[in-house]
Amino acid sequence: MSFNTFGRLFRFTTWGESHGPALGAVVDGCPPGIALSEQDIQPWLDKRRPGTSRFTTQRREPDQVRILSGVFEGRTTGTPISLMIENVDQRSKDYGNVALAYRPGHADYAYDAKYGFRDYRGGGRSSARETAARVAAGAVARAVIPQVRIRAWVESIAGDRIDYEAFDDAQIDANPFFCPDRAAAQRWEAIVDGARKSGSSVGAVVACEATGVPAGWGAPLYAKLDSELASACMSINAVKGFEIGDGFAAAALTGEQNADPMRAGNGGPRFLANHAGGIAGGIATGQPVTMRVAFKPTSSILTPVDTITRTGEETQIATKGRHDPCVGIRGVPVVEAMVAWVLADQALLHRGQCG
Ligand SMILES: Cc1cc2nc3c(=O)[nH]c(=O)nc-3n(C[C@H](O)[C@H](O)[C@H](O)COP(=O)(O)O)c2cc1C
Repeated sequence: MSFNTFGRLFRFTTWGESHGPALGAVVDGCPPGIALSEQDIQPWLDKRRPGTSRFTTQRREPDQVRILSGVFEGRTTGTPISLMIENVDQRSKDYGNVALAYRPGHADYAYDAKYGFRDYRGGGRSSARETAARVAAGAVARAVIPQVRIRAWVESIAGDRIDYEAFDDAQIDANPFFCPDRAAAQRWEAIVDGARKSGSSVGAVVACEATGVPAGWGAPLYAKLDSELASACMSINAVKGFEIGDGFAAAALTGEQNADPMRAGNGGPRFLANHAGGIAGGIATGQPVTMRVAFKPTSSILTPVDTITRTGEETQIATKGRHDPCVGIRGVPVVEAMVAWVLADQALLHRGQCG
């Protein structure tokens, strides 16, 4: 299978399946001499790790990362960095029915249509277990651009939105929803619990902001920073929408309302608004780069759904096993990792062309 690699100058390739012995990433093109250890990667994996609250899947994976190559005496050598995470809590018996019938909303039918043969255990390669490898790779990207702060949070669950007046950065890591609004986090307990107990699921919107991105990173036309970020985030499992800055809401504004007026500042221009999400013409303006990512409701639900078998007979399937009632929650560290990757890649590309 091709297309397992992401990035232009700075690239990672992920490997592994949901129920294989391990999964991981090979990072290539990392500059040499960067301080890197497993301790720099583990905290990001711990944020994505399953089974940390009742609001996520109960699959118990320690997600301990090992660096197998590319680092010597605590510094990157410029050679491929191989990262490995063992799978320890696979229960393939949960998936016996998936071998025979396709789960709607999953990649089962599409993979069969393309390859004619698939590892159906836990979704195989299409499982979001793969996103653990992205998060490990994203930690390397963060080490390449330590001057950039990348922060994501859940903005809404099942359409219930946070109040930005109540935004408290310290709250994001203080509740199981990565929610910056304490009152919204309390409401979400009932919403996600309700979905979990009834075997249903809900969708979510994840917002992400990168600060410290200097004006000039990015590229025109076919590698616009907006399109690189969109490609990165849309490649995440269950993502169905992406917006930069005001996104779709900008289409309802007038030109006056949507302007990002400029005044002279001390160290460069001062912008009075940021409707454009910190990007103009595909290139960063130096303002915060802001985006939103829409996650669909988890496809695995207990209610039987109409489907067909591999041999074309009509049947129904209810997806048992352990699942996230709201995949957007654990999507937060994955979005951060992909954004970190794009920005580190663009930093190296900018240095390559413009010095
Ligand atoms: C962190 C994360 C965890 C996920 N966990 C589940 C899950 O437990 N059950 C499920 O049905 N889908 C889960 N998904 C989504 C599926 O992997 C995804 O919907 C499926 O592979 C089909 O791909 P698509 O939705 O991108 O088309 C998860 C996604 C992410 C990002």
